[in-house]
Amino acid sequence: MAILVTGGAGYIGSHTVVELQNAGYDVVVLDNLSNSSEKSLERVEKITGKKVTFYKADILDREALEEIFNKEQIECVIHFAGLKAVGESVAKPWEYYQNNVAGTLILVDVMRQHGVKNIIFSSSSTVYGMPDAIPVTEKSPKKDCTNPYGWTKSMLEQILSDIQKADPEWNVILLRYFNPIGAHQSGTIGENPNGIPNNLMPYITQVAVGKRPELGIFGNDYNTPDGTGVRDYIHVVDLADGHVKALKKVQENAGLCIYNLGTGVGYSVLDLVKTFEETTGVKIPYSIKERRAGDIDANYADATKAKEELGWEAKYGVKEMCADSWRWQSQNPNGYED
Ligand code: NAD
Ligand code: WQD
Repeated sequence: MAILVTGGAGYIGSHTVVELQNAGYDVVVLDNLSNSSEKSLERVEKITGKKVTFYKADILDREALEEIFNKEQIECVIHFAGLKAVGESVAKPWEYYQNNVAGTLILVDVMRQHGVKNIIFSSSSTVYGMPDAIPVTEKSPKKDCTNPYGWTKSMLEQILSDIQKADPEWNVILLRYFNPIGAHQSGTIGENPNGIPNNLMPYITQVAVGKRPELGIFGNDYNTPDGTGVRDYIHVVDLADGHVKALKKVQENAGLCIYNLGTGVGYSVLDLVKTFEETTGVKIPYSIKERRAGDIDANYADATKAKEELGWEAKYGVKEMCADSWRWQSQNPNGYED
């Protein structure tokens, strides 16, 4: 029996494949490579010394999915495949709803027709919108999202929960990630954004490697200690391990489960810049810009539930996150094109 990892060639997916293989699972990857390179999987194989079965396929392509489920013995799907750029989702809402929501509906339909009713889904802290109080727990209310991307996560949580409610044979594990950064310690796999990075850490590393002149900090008048936005950054290897731990709930037939995956500690933009500089010795020039639409002051996780129920907690701190992001970027200035 194998774990099917959709979006497994991507940033979080490739790191999760490593942890799954290291934990002894057989892994099958499906990815349409719209935001990734097959090279990530070649590097995963080098890290683990194990073969990855790969299908270049789209979750919207029912026939391709049928073929994979007919051929492979899948016991659980870890579902990363999706579009994730917040700004792009505002400009292209149809594409986001189609790819993320319609794609997941097709995937889940093929799964149930093949008797596979176990799914671990990549959700996001974005479902908490602008929280009333932090840290947020899984009981904190879901709020309005500020962009179509966020809504796809919020809607898919609802859709998968309803499917589980109607058919209790389903195990649906919703993992709400906070802000994944860092890379595998080998420096051979990591985040590889197309074009100008949307997220903070890849922007910092591209400034550090000389691809961009300076970092723009989006606002320093937030209600936070130094005025810049506060987030819960989590090492991608810890996040990947969270998926392996979450499989326990599938094995226990736990039904519907929701977990925050974060460290529980908030860092501001300036904290992260300072830690990056101290850890790597590379200076990051920056200037203060206007606030970015839709950004919130602060958010970080209460991840107690994952600790108590999954035995999972983040092992790596922000220094390791910075050092590992930098190792990846400095060894691969052009990502998988090098
Ligand atoms: P990523 O873009 O690196 O990985 C997503 C992968 O899915 C890519 O390899 C892409 O080619 C593939 N894909 C997209 N649409 C597909 C389709 N229709 N069929 C098949 N493959 C498809 O992104 P990531 O950062 O690794 O994120 C993985 C998941 O985690 C996404 O669902 C994302 O929304 C979610 N998430 C990410 C973050 C983050 O900050 N990175 C935070 C919370 C949640
Ligand atoms: C972090 C902080 C910015 C870039 C997004 C999605 C969320 C989730 C994770 C997927 C904020 C500031 C950023 C820059 C900056 N993704 N910043 N200059 O916005 O917390 O979350 O990614 O689910 O849904 O919304 O992450 O890395 O973009 O920003 O000052 O060039 O860095 O304002 O305070 P965010 P981020």
